[in-house]
Amino acid sequence: MNESVQQSQPQYYHQIDQATRESGFTMASDIQTCSLLRTLASAKPGGSFLELGTGTGLSTSWILDGMDQESHLVSVDNDEGVLQVATTYLGADPRLELVCADGGEWLAANGESKYDYIFADTWHGKYLMLDEALSMLKKGGMYIIDDMLPQPNWPEGHQEKAHRLVATLDAHPDVWVTKQHWATGIIIAVKK
Ligand SMILES: C[S@@+](CC[C@H](N)C(=O)[O-])C[C@H]1O[C@@H](n2cnc3c(N)ncnc32)[C@H](O)[C@@H]1O
Repeated sequence: MNESVQQSQPQYYHQIDQATRESGFTMASDIQTCSLLRTLASAKPGGSFLELGTGTGLSTSWILDGMDQESHLVSVDNDEGVLQVATTYLGADPRLELVCADGGEWLAANGESKYDYIFADTWHGKYLMLDEALSMLKKGGMYIIDDMLPQPNWPEGHQEKAHRLVATLDAHPDVWVTKQHWATGIIIAVKK
């Protein structure tokens, strides 16, 4: 099977990709993960979507591409510089709300909100405040994380953190979990 992404790419993907490279931002999701994010986003028509860790908006563009017109995406990052790239290319999309905030503060302030889909791509909602993020999932809602296979840029000690996170998710009573040794290592959890 050819694993490359043959289908169309989001409207601004190439511009964001280029701006991302030029900015020196190296944490953007790979294209396979982005493709999966779009496919899964299309399974939640009329959905409420949350992305923790917008970066330059690369993954955001793929999530938006899978969402229908009735869906809404909140995407949070604390770095105004990278958010500016996302705003430039995606800011006009009425389905998208870009929020510049600390992920922990945002989760603490928005714990009552419920989502059909959460892509947790920063510390909060993944390595920190995992339970808070999972509690914001609706029944049947999807929680997605990447970078769970060892990455060259992992600092010392990160491998142990990743193992603990996988074990915590595996043992979590509220979700069914599937771990994929594919792309950068993806975990998909669905709220029971
Ligand atoms: C892995 S990158 C996100 C990449 C993006 N989702 C993509 O795939 O293109 C993680 C992001 O988390 C942001 N971040 C780091 N600490 C944060 C915090 N305390 N609150 C909110 N965002 C944070 C960084 O600015 C960075 O953009």
